[in-house]
Amino acid sequence: MPTTRRISLTQYLVEQQREHGRIPGELRLLIEVVARACKRIAIAVNKGALGDVLGSTEQSNVQGEIVKKLDLIANEVLIEANEWGGHLAAMASEEMDSIHVVPNRYPQGEYLLLFDPLDGSSNIDVNVSIGTIFSVLRKVGHARGVSEEDFLQPGRQQAAAGYCVYGPQTTLVLTLGNGVAMFTLDRETGSWVLTAQGVQVPEDTKEFAINMSNLRHWDMPVRRYIDECLQGKEGPRGKDFNMRWVASMVADVHRILTRGGIFMYPWDKREPDKPGKLRLLYEANPMAFIVEQAGGAATNGRERILDLQPRKLHERVSVVLGSRNEVERVTAYHRDAA
Ligand code: AHG
Ligand code: MN
Ligand code: MN
Repeated sequence: MPTTRRISLTQYLVEQQREHGRIPGELRLLIEVVARACKRIAIAVNKGALGDVLGSTEQSNVQGEIVKKLDLIANEVLIEANEWGGHLAAMASEEMDSIHVVPNRYPQGEYLLLFDPLDGSSNIDVNVSIGTIFSVLRKVGHARGVSEEDFLQPGRQQAAAGYCVYGPQTTLVLTLGNGVAMFTLDRETGSWVLTAQGVQVPEDTKEFAINMSNLRHWDMPVRRYIDECLQGKEGPRGKDFNMRWVASMVADVHRILTRGGIFMYPWDKREPDKPGKLRLLYEANPMAFIVEQAGGAATNGRERILDLQPRKLHERVSVVLGSRNEVERVTAYHRDAA
């Protein structure tokens, strides 16, 4: 539902705290710091060819992907912004092999922050929407110190999750486990303004998002689903489907939150030993949390993503998310095949 009153992110968080008591001070600080870091990343993104932000570095990351300059910039901005506040114990990122523990010179908090600093890296140089995805966990137990194990919690335990999309508008989407709110960056005042809350993903859709070039590598249930969509009005679904694939998960998920749809990055035969391309802890979990909070669904084709027990920090997962009825259909096709 669009809002007409101008409510800033700070006011929203304060009111959430007052009305629902769901945001401890440390979590509020964390969200505000992440949102501020996203503003800095947005500024870097916007510089484009005028700043030293396009192109690749010489490095490759733990996933074996070439690291883009903006992947590193965004990673550094997020770390620098979050280190000193006393709200975090440690951070984990797509661009870091292992966890980053808050240095001794700062107080340690009880939260853990995970992020994909720059999602949609292949779109940076071509000026197409990209984003930042983040997930917040609470350190369970009171043991001193923090280790990778502390991060291996099922997604349903997330205290908050969000993403920022750097597109024609810069939009921050947030859930604290109490529905989904959207904030648009007002560049004149530099503040995040609440522009939607109680976001709901329509249950049905006629739009799917998948990288069709991988068709020959998919498993039967995914082929069956897409094949039925492609048959349109004349096929078993009795309606024509449209296709979109931005190749930035943030942008595809944002479209789905706005007008419905289904997004899939399934397992495929190119890398048969890996469960999928996307990463569970800082891509699939936060997006699944947001989509569920908006009334949608998210599975790996078989199980609810938020119930998966992670085993490794950079674990991958097959992803099916979006409009509830379509996700349930794809999941049922996998069950039939089994
Ligand atoms: P990242 O840029 O963080 O590595 O993530 C890219 C992901 C995701 O955003 C997108 O949906 C998918 O990779 C695109 O993959 P293809 O290039 O295989 O279509
Ligand atoms: Mn990504
Ligand atoms: Mn990334």
